[in-house]
Amino acid sequence: MFRSRVVVTALVALVPALSGPAQSVAQEPALTPTAAAPARTTPPPPPLMPIALAGDAERGAVLAQTCEGCHGIPGAFNASPAYHVPKLGGQNADYIEVALQGYRRGTRGHATMQAQASSLTDQDIADVAAHFAGIAGDPDPGRLSASAAQIEAGRAKAATCVACHGAEGVAGAPQWPNLAGQHESYLIQALEQYKSGKRVDMVMSPLIAPLDEASLEELAAFFSAQAHLHNTD
Ligand code: HEC
Ligand code: HEC
Repeated sequence: MFRSRVVVTALVALVPALSGPAQSVAQEPALTPTAAAPARTTPPPPPLMPIALAGDAERGAVLAQTCEGCHGIPGAFNASPAYHVPKLGGQNADYIEVALQGYRRGTRGHATMQAQASSLTDQDIADVAAHFAGIAGDPDPGRLSASAAQIEAGRAKAATCVACHGAEGVAGAPQWPNLAGQHESYLIQALEQYKSGKRVDMVMSPLIAPLDEASLEELAAFFSAQAHLHNTD
């Protein structure tokens, strides 16, 4: 939004020079200060939408060089708390766009990702999303340490999840994340954040709130064990 204002301002400034004095320049209505704004309690953040711009995967590949130092290194992990950096190869473009806007506006917390996302324009986000979604790679399970029994327990508990995330963790709509093959420790981290309220989503937060820690671990184990998302190296 900020960027398009800058562009508009620049164009408005150019118009008289290009078209001569006879043209008048449309003015934005003057901003009238409102009398004492009503006191507001903090409203929940509005849901984010995918970006309505076509992504250019080739340009995205160039921009994504900055991201590869973490997302492109198999086994890379976030130091504190320790969990594996999520895989992006084969993730849905619409979901990547929503995730990056969440970091950019600060409703998803992670200092490095907030800094990364803040340096990206809407077009940049559409382009890197097209790049990561389109990477061809070997469908791979995530890094996981769960037992076979935990994976099977997770399969049984995933009945409510598969309506959106797909029977094997490949989502039914592009704005929902693929979970199949995501690293187990990242999925646990994400689920714990919904439970603690550090990450807020109108759909996910109420679904996860009643689940205990063992169930979160089993669900993460089941989805991580399915081969789909891949490394981008
Ligand atoms: C210093 C390491 C690092 C760099 C560099 C980095 N990321 Fe990340 N990224 C992470 C970590 C760690 C997370 C998980 C954060 C969390 O828990 O929310 C993450 C999360 C994400 C997610 C959300 C994934 C999901 O499944 O929700 C996206 C999308 C993403 N990064 C894209 C990018 C892009 C695009 C770039 C480059 C412009 C980038 N990242 C650069 C470490 C990094
Ligand atoms: C009605 C659809 C729906 C259902 C049912 C659902 N999810 Fe989700 N899930 C979503 C959406 C939408 C998001 C992205 C939310 C956001 O941006 O934080 C998401 C995000 C997630 C994430 C974060 C992924 C990432 O890459 O960061 C995990 C993990 C997850 N869901 C697990 C589950 C589990 C486990 C269940 C079942 C208990 C479940 N979901 C049920 C729609 C759904």
